[in-house]
Order: sequence, then C-alpha cells, then structure tokens
Amino acid sequence: MKVSVIGSGHVGLVTGVCFAEKGHEILCVDHDTEKLAKLKKGESPFYEPGMNELLQKHLASKRLQFSNRTEDAVEYGQAIFICVGTPSTARGKADMTFVEKVAQTIAENLKEYRLVIEKSTVPIKTGERIKRTIARYAKGDAQFDVASNPEFLREGSAIEDTLKPDRVVVGVDSAKAESLLREVYAGFNCPIVVTSVGSAELIKHASNSFLALKITFANWLARLCEASGADVEQVVHGMGLDHRIGKHFLNAGIGYGGSCFPKDVDALAHIAEELRVDASMIRGISDMNKGQLQAFYDKIEKELWVLTDKTIAIWGLAFKPNTDDLREAPALRLIEMLKKAGAKIRAHDPVAMPNTRKLHPDLYFAKDAIDAAHGADALVVCTEWPQYRETDLAKVKAVLRVPIIFDGRNCLDRKRAAELNMRLFGIGKSAVGPA
Ligand code: UGA
Repeated sequence: MKVSVIGSGHVGLVTGVCFAEKGHEILCVDHDTEKLAKLKKGESPFYEPGMNELLQKHLASKRLQFSNRTEDAVEYGQAIFICVGTPSTARGKADMTFVEKVAQTIAENLKEYRLVIEKSTVPIKTGERIKRTIARYAKGDAQFDVASNPEFLREGSAIEDTLKPDRVVVGVDSAKAESLLREVYAGFNCPIVVTSVGSAELIKHASNSFLALKITFANWLARLCEASGADVEQVVHGMGLDHRIGKHFLNAGIGYGGSCFPKDVDALAHIAEELRVDASMIRGISDMNKGQLQAFYDKIEKELWVLTDKTIAIWGLAFKPNTDDLREAPALRLIEMLKKAGAKIRAHDPVAMPNTRKLHPDLYFAKDAIDAAHGADALVVCTEWPQYRETDLAKVKAVLRVPIIFDGRNCLDRKRAAELNMRLFGIGKSAVGPA
C-alpha cells in the first residue's frame, strides 16, 4: 500500500521505515532540506538503534522515498500520516501551527479520496479541527476522512516498539477509514483497538500522563524512603509484583525528561482546565518532577558544601540511555545549576556529547567515563547507560580526587562501592561508605 508520512522527525521517520519494513511503499516528507539530504544518503539525523540499517535497507529496496513538498505526499499515498511537531507554548498549550499548515496544504491539493491520520501527539478535538480546516480550504469536492492513530514508541527502542507494539489504537469515524487503517496494520501481530477519534486522542495523552504519574509516585516514595530509612527499590519491587500495579516505570531517579512526558503532562492539564475539569493532580505531577531534580541538587550541595571551583564529573547527558536527545534532559538542568554555583564540569555521554557541545561549549567533554572522573571532587550519574554500570569502580576511585558518587539512577553497584570505601548516594536509599 502507498503511504505518505508528513514530518520526518523521530515519530515520522520511525513510522516510515517501519511501514516500509512491513512491505508498504512510503513517501516521507520534511521541509528541512539539509535533513533530507542526509536521509537520502541513508544517514539518520538523530541517534536511534537500528535506524540507519532500516533506512539504508529501504532506500535500496526503493520502498522508501523522500520529498520536501507536502503536495507530493497528498498525491502519493491514500493514507497520509501527519507526524509534524506540536511544541509547547507558555503554560503547556500545544502549538498547532505546523498541523494546521499541513491540513491546509492537504486541502488545497486534494484531488481524490484521502485518509488523513494524525499521529503526532495532539490535544483532544484536533481531529475535528483538521477535518474542519480541510473542508474549509478544499478547492474541489474530493472526499476525505480524518483518523487518529497515536504512537507509543519510546526513543531508544522506537523501532522495536513500532514493529512489535503492545496495541495499535485507531480512532475513526467511518468504516472506510477503519478498513484502510486495518490494511496499513495488516502485517502487525497485536490487538487493534478501534475507538472514536476523540477517544484515541485521549488514550495517548492519558497513557503518557499515567506513566509520568507512576514515575513521579516512585520519586515521591524515594523521598519518603530517604526520610524514613526504607529502600525505594525494595518498596517498588514489592508493589510491582501486584499485577494491578505492574513493575514498569516505577524506577525512581532524578525526574523524567524528554520531548514527550513534560510536554504531554502539561498539555493534558491545559486541556482539562479548558474543559473546566480539575487539573490539580496532573499539574502536581509536573511540579513534583521539577522538585525531584532540585532535591538531587540540594543533596549534592549539602554534601560538597561549597560548589565554587569544585570539579564535578557527569556521566550521562541525554534524557535517557540509547538516545542523543537532550530535550528536557535532567542532566542539562543540573549542569546549569552547578555552573551557576561556580562548579566546573567534566562531562561524558556515549552519543549525546556533540549535541551538548552546541549548548555548553565551555564544558570539558571526556573521551570516556574514566577520563570524565579524572581529578573530580565528585561523580554524578544522570543517565543509566549500560557501560556506566559495567565500569570498574576501582578504576573510578583511582582517578577521582574525592571518592564520592551521586547515583541519580540507582544504577551503580552499591556493595562494590562500599567495599572500596567509596561514599555513594543513591535515590531513595541510604548512602553507603564512609561519611
Ligand atoms: C514516552 C512513552 O514511554 C512512549 O510510550 C511515548 O510514545 C513517547 O513518550 C511519546 O509520546 O512519543 P520516551 O519519552 O521516548 O517515551 O521515553 P521513556 O522511556 O518513556 O522515558 C521518559 C523519561 O522517564 C526518561 O527521562 C526516563 O529516564 C524517565 N523514566 C522512565 C524514569 O525516571 N523512571 C522510569 O521508571 C521510567
């Protein structure tokens, strides 16, 4: 089946290559010509495991093409996926400028039936807005449907999540739209949940906000554990074995980041407030999340006393492992706070250093994890890359000026740190090693 994808960012590109992998013929559109030039050479503009391989495979199979013209997308595929960005404005409202522009262009170029599918995370009622926009700007009387098909992919495992989803949600208001979307997903082995367009839109926001709530609950428990002497990992393990609760997304840390949770939680709160529904619980998630990083900073400051002229090694810059994405990355906020207090930073991340250098050219970018720790007054772990877990703590101790570690992701070996007489602070557990 011929499918068009408008917007070749994380969502659009992953969608495009995965549909090509399932046998569809794909046209991906993006207005950024520099990005397109890279893509046509088989180079992904962002780091995502497996992306370059699939890109090159389907450029070669000719099931994947690129264009910078939205008009081409309207002509090419009977199903057109909108995957453009919906950034946050002040107070969390989603900016729908790109979505509206795409809807207008689709309208102006509509010559025969098309199914327009919103895949970007959008506020409730966006489907209705797109429908109205296409109807208003259409030049002819070609028929169309608008559907919602939210994505649930996680950066870092986006290809796997897309090829093997837990479920596919299709929000439709016509039998034709449903049957076309069933055709798109014919090769996927998972339940297809058919809903109204509005319910599909809400499923996406509700899912992300619920996951953010789970993390925030674990982070709050961590604070309670630190105050009471309990251990948050033991507590969430005991909770998570209850199937009604589940063990996933209960890892306490330094707060969630990324391009989705912070934006989507704020957007859901905004939607609720617009509909005059009490949003205090959802607003609370966002506020607690910001407080989580502040509490971590306070812990560092309390232990190190004066931060001016202290050297801090930071392991992990991206908002999570397996990505070079720095959007809302807790590490970046922490670096800003530490710099403001006069500390010097030796940073390391397996893939996110080039992006960080653009924002903080004054940092020292280490060649590896041990190099980052060299001469530092403390080591702070912000992202739980597997290679950090595997780093020999004896080697870390040998190069640190003072053997103090703040593990913001509870990913290092506490027992080993204690054996080595290193002082290690985790999240939601008591510190080990000599005070
Ligand atoms: C999230 C959702 O997990 C996807 O289902 C959704 O499709 C996506 O947003 C989106 O809306 O596009 P993503 O932001 O890529 O995916 O990353 P997650 O793996 O969900 O992690 C988000 C943040 O939560 C990270 O900063 C991570 O470190 C943090 N986290 C996650 C925790 O602090 N604890 C956990 O237990 C899990």
